[in-house]
Amino acid sequence: MGSGHDCDTIWSDATLLTMAGESLVEQGLVAAKDGRIVYAGPTDTAPDLAATRVIDCQGRLVTPGLIDCHTHIVHGGSRAGEWEVRLAGASYEEIARAGGGIVSTMRATREASEDQLIAASLPRLEALIAEGVTTVEIKSGYGLELASERRMLRAARSLGERCGVTVRTTFLGAHALPPEYAGRADDYIALVTGEMLPALAAEGLVDAVDAFCEGIGFTPAQTERVFVAARKLGLPVKLHAEQLSNQRGAALAARYGALSADHLEHLDDDGIAAMAANGTVATLLPGAFYFTRETKLPPVRALRDAGVPIAIATDCNPGTSPLTSLLLAMNMAATLFRLTVAECWVGTTRNAARALGLADTGILAPGYWADLAVWNVDRPAELVYRMGGRPLHARYRRGI
Ligand code: NIG
Ligand code: FE
Repeated sequence: MGSGHDCDTIWSDATLLTMAGESLVEQGLVAAKDGRIVYAGPTDTAPDLAATRVIDCQGRLVTPGLIDCHTHIVHGGSRAGEWEVRLAGASYEEIARAGGGIVSTMRATREASEDQLIAASLPRLEALIAEGVTTVEIKSGYGLELASERRMLRAARSLGERCGVTVRTTFLGAHALPPEYAGRADDYIALVTGEMLPALAAEGLVDAVDAFCEGIGFTPAQTERVFVAARKLGLPVKLHAEQLSNQRGAALAARYGALSADHLEHLDDDGIAAMAANGTVATLLPGAFYFTRETKLPPVRALRDAGVPIAIATDCNPGTSPLTSLLLAMNMAATLFRLTVAECWVGTTRNAARALGLADTGILAPGYWADLAVWNVDRPAELVYRMGGRPLHARYRRGI
């Protein structure tokens, strides 16, 4: 490579899964300058490139860095004890109604300082990163009061800086009713919409707004008030929808132009049509399906037929999905939900980016961030097929 286009780094001899198309590029290369891709494709048709650093991938598979588009990794405490109670027969909903569940994590989170939240969450984030994750969404929602929600979001942001991962923060004030508002859910929503969200948005801590629309969460009417408040601030919305029952939350979210509706086991045809019409991504969370022993499958075939983009995420949270492996989530999506290998890859790259409103990541193509994962395998199916193992060879975020 002589004196051609200047770039910082070339990854040579790569087997590329660019996600721009779905076929593999053998003998490919990626070139980046200032953290952005300038070329990704076959070596023999590449422009003349000159780089200060050439990384020989030795034929390894190179994909976009993975994107986990739905997590609750920042929180205090553990719910292993509650899980043991569930093993003995109690349901997730029974525990929530008895004052456990999300509210028990709320207590542990309120007691934790920002540094303690960072320390508790760091191993979870490091586990994701060790499997090639370069972008992660992190929700608030275990503070359920302004100061604690702020600490969660600040902890999420500083984890991103510390770990070299792109963090998108989602405000989930409407996750559960804090005990001090028992019997006054509408008053709590007024606090969420009137005080918490405007204050946190003004501090630049909110990239998107989410809610838990459910029998044990908030009603569609309360959810809509949260969406109205988000819209006033120009913030995109997402929704925990149709996880335990059909509240028609996905259709509501789609009407507000939601980036995604997530879970969706109980989604109906109207919800699918509304999502398709509005371009709302269906984020499937097989870890939560597995861990709660759900038996109702999300309507994958109907989503596919309607052309709704499907994403896959860990939903890493202490109650329903203590999962810190996006590769295992892909395996579960294939095994439990019958997604194809190609759908699993689109679901953790291109469509996951879309679920976060990110237009410049998740694909290896010129102009996109040089977020790359280099794997010790030669075929994409290997990574969806195996459970466990340490298949990542190297990971680069923004070219570094
Ligand atoms: O995505 N469904 C609501 N939120 C989480 C569970 C949170 C928890 O139990 O702590 C979820 O499954
Ligand atoms: Fe969740």
